Amino acid sequence: MCGIVGYTGPNPALSRVIEGLRRLEYRGYDSAGVALATKVGEKLVVEKKAGKLANLEGTLTSDYSNAHGGIGHTRWATHGGPTDVNAHPHLDESGKLAVIHNGIIENYIELKEELERRGHKFKSETDTESVAHLLSEEFKISGDLATAMRSVCSRLRGSFTLLAIHSDRPDLIVGARRNSPLVVGVGTGENFLASDVSAFISHTKRALELGQDQVVQVTPEKVVVTDLSGAAITPKEYEITWDAKAAERGGFKHFMLKEIFEQPKAVADTLLGRFPSSDSIELKELENLALDCNRILILACGTAYHAGLIGKYAIEEWVQIPVDVELASEFRYRKPVLTSKTLVITISQSGETMDTLMALRHAESLGAQTLSICNTIGSTIPRESDAVLYTHAGPEIAVASTKALLTQVVVLHLVALYIANRSGSLSKSRIKELISELLELPNKIEEILETVEPLREMTRGYKDSNSVLFLGRHVGFPAALEGALKLKELAYMHAEGFAGGELKHGPIALIDKGTPVIAILPPASSEIAEKMRSNIQEVRARGANVIAIADPSHNLDIPNLIRIPECEELLQPLLSIVPLQVFAYEMAVARGNDVDQPRNLAKSVTVE
Ligand code: AGP
Ligand code: GLU
Repeated sequence: MCGIVGYTGPNPALSRVIEGLRRLEYRGYDSAGVALATKVGEKLVVEKKAGKLANLEGTLTSDYSNAHGGIGHTRWATHGGPTDVNAHPHLDESGKLAVIHNGIIENYIELKEELERRGHKFKSETDTESVAHLLSEEFKISGDLATAMRSVCSRLRGSFTLLAIHSDRPDLIVGARRNSPLVVGVGTGENFLASDVSAFISHTKRALELGQDQVVQVTPEKVVVTDLSGAAITPKEYEITWDAKAAERGGFKHFMLKEIFEQPKAVADTLLGRFPSSDSIELKELENLALDCNRILILACGTAYHAGLIGKYAIEEWVQIPVDVELASEFRYRKPVLTSKTLVITISQSGETMDTLMALRHAESLGAQTLSICNTIGSTIPRESDAVLYTHAGPEIAVASTKALLTQVVVLHLVALYIANRSGSLSKSRIKELISELLELPNKIEEILETVEPLREMTRGYKDSNSVLFLGRHVGFPAALEGALKLKELAYMHAEGFAGGELKHGPIALIDKGTPVIAILPPASSEIAEKMRSNIQEVRARGANVIAIADPSHNLDIPNLIRIPECEELLQPLLSIVPLQVFAYEMAVARGNDVDQPRNLAKSVTVE
């Protein structure tokens, strides 16, 4: 949660920081604020405002062009309401030291009590403000912001990325991280600190990864990284492979729509270079894993969890080993039985989701081998896994995940085929068939997107519904769950996904005259096709207004029929989910909601 930017260099810091915040606003939008060092040794200029970044921009009365060092924050409130006072940055009493924070300081109450006893006066209700006062005390002792940061971090519990600036050294920004993201952007004569690379992508493509419990000092010419004891660390440098355009809307009304339309390319890019021949799969990244596992456990949250649920069907069928899929947030607090023969796969677009990260660490501590599927190079989850497979979706900015999901499912299919190829659980001819099916997906997704207009129109007709139900069986079930999640998240409507067979065990009581039910049909050749058609009849008989998603193998007498191309049953969610994304998108637009930044949410959930 929350976006953090720091800048030091010859250019006006305010414009660089605001530009970075604009790109990071998807991470949190309860408030925005900046602190700028305009004069050595004098009070910092702090401008902060509740609400979106535009609110802050609207109130700025100067461009503060004399400030060349500054920090900025977009907040996703955890402690204290989304008010001007609680907005970051937070200052010490001198007004010369400012702090921004992403995460939660879990021991903030005891720290606050201690600081109050020593006479500090708190202005906000945040957990963050105690850090400002602690830093101030430590700075008075050492006169050095990095030394102060190191000793303060040793006292903090919880998760944090912190940036601090002091007007005595206006060209210096000090950062620290534990469990929350922070990257360094290395420019020419200027340097950046940010929650993710999109904040500085238009100025530099060189980035440095920072590890757990590391403190970084940046000036225009230098980046120095240490651990909490002050020992020097050489951070790993990497190059950002996408350009600033990829993180812009490029003519689309919303990032989400752009990202939906980028799916054919995202899937094609994720498959690229994986098939050296028509019946073999190459995943060099897995070479160091012992793939003689007897069980796979997939851990993830939200949409990434749905990717895992979809992948389970293919892995079990093709590889013939048991696969469990669990919500990372639930796994973490259980005492599960894992062995070195369990391969734990974590899935995360951001690579920073706290629940997933903690689940990964829990799995590692229990002796499992770990593989992560991730879209963000250099993020924490892949860094802490034994192996990583990157999805090549490009930056996903909209809070609602779309192209990341499709590429995550594709990677799970690749893993399944790779293991099946090695173990011989699938014949060469079957592998060849499946590879060719996978390679046809980008064109098929394109076909859906080209014919999506009538669906968009139809969706608007449901805008006043109270509730929408989604039905599917087999891989159509997790697809239904994803359809419902998208609709809740974007349209703020009651929505639920059900397994078709479960209907009669309770949910059918929800069906009333006119209740919209979106039913996903498997190919007509599937053994569950007839069952799904019966489910449609059952809900129609009770007055439901059915929208069916089906391929041309079905001859259906349903007025609201959305056609998707034919494909292998196990791969079908990669097609059937696309209209569900469009449905949720269009519903959010029709209901006047903020599509890219839905209420109460943030893109990257770095708190538990
Ligand atoms: C999906 O639309 C969500 N916004 C959310 O469920 C998301 O998929 C989840 O928070 C996991 O994020 P991650 O992939 O970055 O770990
Ligand atoms: N816990 C802090 C707050 O509520 C930081 C939240 C964030 O990461 O944006 O202000």
